[in-house]
Amino acid sequence: MRLVLLGGPGAGKGTQAKALAKHWKIVHISTGDLFRYHRDHGTELGLLANRYMAQGQLVPDEVTEKMVEDRISQSDVASQGGFVLDGFPRTVPQGEALSAILASKHQHLDAVLYIFVPEEVLEERLVGRRVCPQCQANYHVSLNPPKIADTCDVCGATLIQREDDQPLTVRTRFKVYQEQTSPLIAFYEKRGLLRTVDGNQTPDQVTRALVSAVGTVADD
Ligand code: AP5
Repeated sequence: MRLVLLGGPGAGKGTQAKALAKHWKIVHISTGDLFRYHRDHGTELGLLANRYMAQGQLVPDEVTEKMVEDRISQSDVASQGGFVLDGFPRTVPQGEALSAILASKHQHLDAVLYIFVPEEVLEERLVGRRVCPQCQANYHVSLNPPKIADTCDVCGATLIQREDDQPLTVRTRFKVYQEQTSPLIAFYEKRGLLRTVDGNQTPDQVTRALVSAVGTVADD
């Protein structure tokens, strides 16, 4: 199973990618998480990526494509029988690069799942989001607060706000999404791979809708 999740910032790609990876026992590949891992470990790639991430801009295509190609080629992807990509591709050139990477391995995508959520809902989710820097658990100040204010329920670490979840940066991310990522909707629709799901429901409802949408691709 090889899947791509598309959707605006905060649409629930990370949340759903984890659920789908568990459902099909495939590997979750998040370019945002990979960049944050490199940033937190002070690697050259991480320092470069952070210059763009902190501003809400995209990391250059060639850097991102190389990182994804390396990750897709790791042995766990073959042994677990596939992946769900969360945050890649994010530009049409990245979509073309992904097709070329897969073609070189005689592989193809099974489906591209577009999680649609209105922008005002996304904004509320992002500016209220708090994350655990230690175990990556996610909270929301009012929609999903931790039991003790600013403290992770899972590991007790102090929660932080992602630098790119500041209101001004969130607005830049929406603009970048509209200009550079949304053209991928038509790109994958043309290739018969796109399935659109309402992301403005509970996370469990969204997961069920995504699993059923992949079923319709298998039936095509
Ligand atoms: P990335 O981390 O991928 O950021 P993003 O796409 O903006 O997505 P988010 O992680 O903010 O949200 P999400 O859609 O995963 O939603 P989540 O499940 O967390 O990328 C960060 C940066 O890295 C980019 O800006 C860019 O600089 C760089 N980058 C990454 N990929 C790149 C690429 N391919 N090319 C170039 N640069 C790249 O949910 C959001 C919140 O909502 C959470 O609090 C969650 O608990 C809550 N939530 C989720 N689902 C629901 C629901 N159904 N109902 C209510 N709340 C929900």
